[in-house]
Amino acid sequence: MNEFSVSIVCNEEHETSQLAKRLAALLLGNGIGGLTVYLEGDLGAGKTTFSRGFLHSLGHNGSVKSPTYTLVEPYEINKISVFHFDLYRLADPEELEFMGIRDYFHDNSLCLIEWPDKGFGLLPAPDLKMEISFDGNDRVFKLSTNKQTMEDCLKVLQD
Ligand SMILES: Nc1ncnc2c1ncn2[C@@H]1O[C@H](COP(=O)(O)OP(=O)(O)OP(=O)(O)O)[C@@H](O)[C@H]1O
Ligand SMILES: [Mg+2]
Repeated sequence: MNEFSVSIVCNEEHETSQLAKRLAALLLGNGIGGLTVYLEGDLGAGKTTFSRGFLHSLGHNGSVKSPTYTLVEPYEINKISVFHFDLYRLADPEELEFMGIRDYFHDNSLCLIEWPDKGFGLLPAPDLKMEISFDGNDRVFKLSTNKQTMEDCLKVLQD
């Protein structure tokens, strides 16, 4: 299948939270188990801000820390294990082998991954990729997929 993508402008932080909320609602409608989401963009692009909104909208009530030093923060939301990764500090993708990276990806988990390029070769392909570009205060979220169900969700998001 060809890649499908939509670009959404989120210049204000509340628009990023709103996008996270709408996406979470759409994904919940189809079941969030087994999803892998890549979050790409420079330092300060808004990956963690998006993730925070997304986790809260999925139903997480507590705080959401950036996993910068821990590499991964686990959440248990409605019987689904949600893993929020930040691989920025990974020196070598091989470190993921020592973490037992494969065990994080299964039908009952959703993985949100900041800096997925740092884990190149050891991560599964994403069901959804978000690339955040920013220039001053202007932020554009490009969401792309090559999965039909996800494409259907993105089409709704676009409207
Ligand atoms: N429209 C916006 N969307 C998201 N964040 C915004 C927006 N406008 C301003 N910000 C601010 O930009 C910063 C984004 O930081 P955030 O930690 O989310 O980035 P990040 O992409 O996770 O960076 P890192 O690569 O360091 O983990 C926050 O301080 C947030 O308040
Ligand atoms: Mg971050």
